[in-house]
Amino acid sequence: MTRVFTILITIVLPTLASPLNRDFQNLQIPLRAYDLPDGRIGSQDVEHKGMRALLDRYAPVVKLSIEEDYYPSSIDYMLPHYNYVEHDNGDRIPANHSLLTPDHLDELPSAGGGLWMSIATAHNPQPFLDSKSAWLLGPAGQKGQMKRRADGRGLIEEPVYGFWVDQGRGIVDLWYWTFYPFNFGKPVGPFGILGNHVGDWEHLRMRTINGSAVSVDYHSHNGGAFSAGTTRWSDVVKVDDRPVGYSAAGSHGLWPIPGEHVYAELLNLFKIADITDDDGAVWDTKGRVEPVQYWTDPERRRRLWHRDDDAWLNYRGRWGNKGENDCWWYRAVGICQIVDAPPGPNRNFGSPPDCIVAPLVWESSTYAFYLSSPLVTWAENHGIAYVQVEQTCSRPRKRKDDGDDDDDDDGGGGCDGDDEDEDGVRIADYLHDTTLEEDLKMWSVKGMTPFAGRAQHRASVLPCKGVRSAVKSYRIALCMKNGKCISTSGDRKVCSYQEGKKGYRFGRAVDVDDVDEWRWNV
Ligand SMILES: *[C@@H]1O[C@H](CO)[C@@H](O)[C@H](O)[C@H]1NC(C)=O
Ligand SMILES: *[C@@H]1O[C@H](CO)[C@@H](O)[C@H](O)[C@H]1NC(C)=O
Repeated sequence: MTRVFTILITIVLPTLASPLNRDFQNLQIPLRAYDLPDGRIGSQDVEHKGMRALLDRYAPVVKLSIEEDYYPSSIDYMLPHYNYVEHDNGDRIPANHSLLTPDHLDELPSAGGGLWMSIATAHNPQPFLDSKSAWLLGPAGQKGQMKRRADGRGLIEEPVYGFWVDQGRGIVDLWYWTFYPFNFGKPVGPFGILGNHVGDWEHLRMRTINGSAVSVDYHSHNGGAFSAGTTRWSDVVKVDDRPVGYSAAGSHGLWPIPGEHVYAELLNLFKIADITDDDGAVWDTKGRVEPVQYWTDPERRRRLWHRDDDAWLNYRGRWGNKGENDCWWYRAVGICQIVDAPPGPNRNFGSPPDCIVAPLVWESSTYAFYLSSPLVTWAENHGIAYVQVEQTCSRPRKRKDDGDDDDDDDGGGGCDGDDEDEDGVRIADYLHDTTLEEDLKMWSVKGMTPFAGRAQHRASVLPCKGVRSAVKSYRIALCMKNGKCISTSGDRKVCSYQEGKKGYRFGRAVDVDDVDEWRWNV
């Protein structure tokens, strides 16, 4: 039977389209230097502005798959199991278990930067796990240890690590991280199970505005086109007004609905899919969220240095063994059976959601947005007089009849907003870029607005013209009095929807109310 599993697809990326590489690189920045303690930035205050209560208010319900073997755990479960620490350069030192504890982990050299906490026993199930390593199945995965609800479904009671990120103006992002001892990979034909690794951190990210949820970002496989991405709160499956996430068997990435989520093809031959369902163990995290303050405040954005039992959050290393790259197929496929363990959760939280959710409109697009204070200062010092908005439009190029694509019934991602509504609209139409960049024609439409400092900017832009054309993203540029633009931002993806309809739809004009201040690095 098909079991399900992971590929740490990052390593397959060189064989995939370029926009995917960009997502990958963004996520590889995380091991950047921390802000060091400066005396003022002390321990966190978990009662700060009611954040503990907010984290618990939206504590997610994780539905594990009926096919799952590798159950969740906690850092307290995992730390005593590491046997040695390996340095990037290959040096190994035996684990000193007075340091591998939640309150001392950051006392490893360089707070663990460049280090890999590793286990000595077998960790490459093909497909069966060596019995000496059975602890990798997690507490609930041990024989006879699964608790049961009245209806017979498994019951998981592990903690989740909940980070809040105060973005200012009432915007608070909640990042819920889960920790599994092991990630079980995916079967890929003759190569066996690819993508196994020790230590598996996964997360779900919620956007709240003035205490109310507005969207959830579901992540798996390093995000980007491999994930479901941003889902509107009205489309999120809920229990008790809290979000439900469906965890992929083996690899544990979170998805908004049960089903098969194909996210890659290897060598154009092997379909790689996450499988989720609503039949396995239920992990209700309410009352089990360990609150963590990410940074000081929205203006300074200084990451906290954590103390005492929270010191493990300062650890900068990896949570499992190094991967392999010496398999014979590595050059062709880019991934072996065992891949690198991930870094920890406490990183990279300042970014906006995967995409900006915006309603479709019939006339011109409107873009309302803010500039961050460092950017405003820069603009003032450089004589900026205007801000230009550049709306990226796309439409599919004419298709060649390739004939092998027999179930292309949902319009392939290019339908207009005004039709094709009648049936078969899924709860969450993922904005996967299923159309390769080279199959899209792309162009941009521009608008200008006077530079307004910290106040809200608002620019009007003509709609994308043409049949099946759609707004895809936008970016801004800072321009001088003579109209010359001297600095351009990165792109922010736009996910458009139609009022009163579920899911996302594509269309020619949108009404964007972008609450994340522009700062060039995100
Ligand atoms: C383990 O770490 C503790 C705390 O830093 C230290 O006192 C002890 O000497 C170390 N043990 C070994 C065997 O290195
Ligand atoms: C949050 O509420 C405050 C006070 O009512 C309001 O000024 C602010 O605009 C709200 N935030 C957002 C992002 O809507």
